[in-house]
Amino acid sequence: MGAGAARRCLLGLLVAAPAAAAAGTADRYPVFTDEGLATGRAIWVENCMTCHGYGIAGAPDPNKAKAWAHRLEKPRETLYDHALNGFFGPDGTMMPARGGNAALSDAEVKRAVDYMAAVARRANDKVRAETDQHPNTNP
Ligand code: HEC
Repeated sequence: MGAGAARRCLLGLLVAAPAAAAAGTADRYPVFTDEGLATGRAIWVENCMTCHGYGIAGAPDPNKAKAWAHRLEKPRETLYDHALNGFFGPDGTMMPARGGNAALSDAEVKRAVDYMAAVARRANDKVRAETDQHPNTNP
C-alpha cells in the first residue's frame, strides 16, 4: 500500500478515535509556565494528541519515557525537520508532515515539538530519579 493509501487509512482511524478522552488531559499534559510551551500545548492538543496521546499508528507517547529517550538525544533541528516534512522511522511507522495539518505554520509545528519534548523530558527525568533511588530496578 502506498503512502497515500496508508494516510487515508490513518485518517479513517482518527475520525473514529479520541475527543471523548479530553478529561485528565491536564495531568498527563502539564501546562508549563513558559509562554512558548503554553502555546505549544494548545497546538499539540489540537493537532498532535490524536496520535501521540494514544500511540495511534505507532506514534510515540511523550509520557512513555522509553519511547522518547532516543528521540530526545536527536538535535532539536532534526525533530523539527521530521515534524515539518514527515518521517519514516526504522520500525516502518510514519510521522505525516505537519501531523497532516498543512495549515500549521513552521513556528506552530516547532512549538508543538518543543511542548512534546518537554513532556517527554519530564517523563525521562522521572524514570531517572526513580532509578537513582532503586539502582537495582530496571524500568
Ligand atoms: C497520524 C498520526 C500522527 C499525528 C497526527 C502526528 N504524529 Fe508525530 N509521529 C507519528 C508517528 C507514527 C511517529 C513515529 C515515526 C517513527 O519514528 O517511526 C511520529 C513521530 C514524531 C516525532 C519524532 C520524530 C523523530 O525523529 O523521532 C515528532 C517530533 C513528531 N512526531 C511531532 C509531531 C507533531 C508536532 C505533531 C502535531 C503537529 C504530530 N507529530 C502529529 C504520528 C503522528
